[in-house]
Amino acid sequence: MRKSFRLVSVAISTLTLLSVVSIATVNASDESVIKEGKKIALNNKKGNCLACHLITGGGEQPGNIGPPLIVMKARFPDKEVLKAQISDARDKNPNSIMPPFGAHGILTADELDKVTEYIYSL
Ligand code: HEC
Repeated sequence: MRKSFRLVSVAISTLTLLSVVSIATVNASDESVIKEGKKIALNNKKGNCLACHLITGGGEQPGNIGPPLIVMKARFPDKEVLKAQISDARDKNPNSIMPPFGAHGILTADELDKVTEYIYSL
């Protein structure tokens, strides 16, 4: 009885440890995706988002043609909606001057995902 109790408690602590490790791994990879997304978003040959948007911590002399990209999670709780906006702003506003980054292939699908993760984190 005692032995099996010990076994169970060893099993439980092993599981706990494993889950802590896996959560840490997920967070680390999320952060690297966000970092990569930031690079793409700020690169003036790629996203060039700063040309029109203020991004806190994103760089100096932002443009003010588009709304500031702040408190994104509150304004875009659904990440897919945010991604659609970045992919093709014409869906919401046919006259948008924001480049349709996905639709025109300015960003690849992978780059679009990373930029969305970055913008979502703002
Ligand atoms: C040429 C200017 C321009 C560039 C470059 C640009 N945007 Fe925009 N963006 C706009 C404008 C203008 C709007 C306002 C809505 C509209 O007119 O479509 C907008 C709206 C948005 C919105 C919706 C914001 C809200 O509060 O509703 C998001 C999100 C967004 N842009 C993200 C981006 C990202 C990410 C990039 C870079 C990959 C980017 N934009 C590059 C002009 C731009």
